[in-house]
Amino acid sequence: AQIEKGGFDHFMLKEIFDQPASLTDCLRGRLDVATLSLTLAGVDQHLSVFTQAKRIIIVACGTSWHAGLIAEYMIETICRIPVEVEYASEFRYRNPIIHSGDVIIAISQSGETADTLVAIERAKEQGAFIFGVVNAVGSSIARLSHAGAYTHAGPEIGVASTKAFTAQLAVLAMMALKIGKAKQTLTDADYKHYLVELSQIPEKVQVILSSHELIKEVAQVYAEANNFLFLGRGYNFPVALEAALKLKEVSYIPCSGYPSGEVKHGPIALVDETLPTLFIATKDKYYDKIVSNIQEIKARKGKVIAIINPDDTAIRGVSDHVMEVPETDELLAPLLTVIPTQLMSYYIGVLRGLDVDKPRNLAKSVTVE
Ligand code: G6P
Repeated sequence: AQIEKGGFDHFMLKEIFDQPASLTDCLRGRLDVATLSLTLAGVDQHLSVFTQAKRIIIVACGTSWHAGLIAEYMIETICRIPVEVEYASEFRYRNPIIHSGDVIIAISQSGETADTLVAIERAKEQGAFIFGVVNAVGSSIARLSHAGAYTHAGPEIGVASTKAFTAQLAVLAMMALKIGKAKQTLTDADYKHYLVELSQIPEKVQVILSSHELIKEVAQVYAEANNFLFLGRGYNFPVALEAALKLKEVSYIPCSGYPSGEVKHGPIALVDETLPTLFIATKDKYYDKIVSNIQEIKARKGKVIAIINPDDTAIRGVSDHVMEVPETDELLAPLLTVIPTQLMSYYIGVLRGLDVDKPRNLAKSVTVE
């Protein structure tokens, strides 16, 4: 097992550090910046299904569901197709309205999650087109789908998903770009811009990983916290949910994630000098709003950790701790902003003496209800 961990103490840490390579593998043979081409066989072969889709429904569970929420923002922005994101466990039982011509995207690392599998079986019976975004090659969800795109993140052993999530985001971004280009809802200039930005993601992830000692120091400060709040807006809102899930899974600290615009509608009641709030606050159109959200937390003596871009001054000045990520387009920001939250969760779990690779009560793949 020590050899399989590649010299790392845990699979989770190895898999976090795998991400520059797993993302490169995911983009390989698909994204070619030199020729500005994007090849995604499963989408290319069914391009008209996507360009004519009146609606896309994404079904998934857990971390994969969070990738779906980000994909909703990507696809609606770039392709102007309405997207709904459903928990597979709800979708399969609630007799949802499905029209032929609807496209279902099932996102799953294992390809074996029972709820997701049954959800797409139901939708398939009702005439929907099923597209799988799956990591495990040849898995049940991959086989049941009409078409799909593998995430090629390699085997993920740690129960808490890390590299599978970023590979899902990369595939979903490529899908949105392909469809948007075909629908001409995306300009050639923007298409080119996104391809260039996407191609730079693996090396930017590497830059964040190189700062792991600084993230470990932040983890040491907050390892004994009894509660944790994660906030973000726009593309970074689902990252707040994912960060809360990750820390909860490996540390057993009660964690909640919210869009920061919702903080006044409840979570702010939790704030006192013992509560850490992590803001995902990279430069995007929400930046000024986030600054005022941070001031609201500080005015109530809460502790603030912020994920910021290197040239940030305003948020750096008001936060107790910061973690830096390189700049990218806001649509791709989650691929970077999630990385410090993965590392922080890992270090806090280890500092609390817990089995981060196999947290209590959790399974890598939930194949029974
Ligand atoms: C379990 C795992 C999670 C995962 C979820 C969905 O809860 O512990 O890490 O996100 O299942 O799994 P899937 O394989 O369908 O992505």
